[in-house]
Amino acid sequence: MADAPRTAEAITGPEEFARRLDEHDYLADDGAATACFLAVRMGRPLFLEGDAGVGKTELAKALASVLGAPLIRLQCYEGIDAAQALYDWDYPRQLLHLRAAQAAGGGTDPDRLESGLYDRRFLLARPLLRALEASREGPGVLLVDEIDRADDEFEAFLLEFLSDFTISIPELGTVSTAAPPVVVLTSNRTREVHDALKRRCLYHWMPNPGFEREVAIIRRRLPEAADRLVRQVAAAGQRLRGTAADGPDLIKPPGVAETIDWTAALVALGARELDPDSAARSLGALIKHREDHEAVRLTLASLLNGHDTAAVG
Ligand SMILES: Nc1ncnc2c1ncn2[C@@H]1O[C@H](COP(=O)(O)OP(=O)(O)OP(=O)(O)O)[C@@H](O)[C@H]1O
Ligand SMILES: [Mg+2]
Repeated sequence: MADAPRTAEAITGPEEFARRLDEHDYLADDGAATACFLAVRMGRPLFLEGDAGVGKTELAKALASVLGAPLIRLQCYEGIDAAQALYDWDYPRQLLHLRAAQAAGGGTDPDRLESGLYDRRFLLARPLLRALEASREGPGVLLVDEIDRADDEFEAFLLEFLSDFTISIPELGTVSTAAPPVVVLTSNRTREVHDALKRRCLYHWMPNPGFEREVAIIRRRLPEAADRLVRQVAAAGQRLRGTAADGPDLIKPPGVAETIDWTAALVALGARELDPDSAARSLGALIKHREDHEAVRLTLASLLNGHDTAAVG
């Protein structure tokens, strides 16, 4: 962790960043590698937006690995508030401490007893506080995952945090860091995130990978899968995601996560290439909506037909 800044300085440009990400099994295109390089070099948060399963979370993890920095993840959800992101006092432990102090005859001066309760060891650090504490010996990586699930109020709070990287704890004082964490925010775009937050960040839209990159990603995750099978699965993924006139119109086209899963399911079934039978049996790994399931089953034959070597759609 201490050599994270040195690692960052040694990365001279986007190509070098892509190479380092590749060493950690993340295959970044030029856009993603450039966005990472600039975010680290300029010390700006990186806002990653893209379809589900396109590799946003994994990119943040790989970025932390490249920097040799700890990854602290704040998973957002509906109703998340500042306290859940910052810290909590550990009331049960404070109570135990109080009882133990009284039992040991530690005096009854209420002020002394109270001040003993607000000690760092009774503080439960939540992700934002952990990110500051983890960044003391060099910047950590803070992943604010799926920010679009949080509400406006939380977004405004986060904006404030990102502007000064300090946390004020009334009972303890202010926590800050000389080396702010590298921040990555992700969004599936279930709602539009406010311009004020985006303005603070470098924005990168993550497209689905093209055919050859998808083949490479699946191969990297599942080296045991037969080459022909991987190419057929990737071609099917491209087709289901694309706007080909003869392709089914899906509620939720599969992401890369799903084509990896489908390949894993097919490998588990002993398939070395995509035949209609094993494809139909394992479709639950690729398609997660009943209506889509029907639509894909009906077009399976054309989907498997001759689309195993080229990008389609
Ligand atoms: N470029 C890539 N290189 C290596 N693996 C990738 C790449 N893109 C996607 N993957 C793989 O795809 C899977 C899904 O990635 P990830 O979970 O990061 O997607 P996501 O965009 O965060 O999805 P969601 O929006 O659903 O959270 C992971 O198993 C990841 O390893
Ligand atoms: Mg994710």
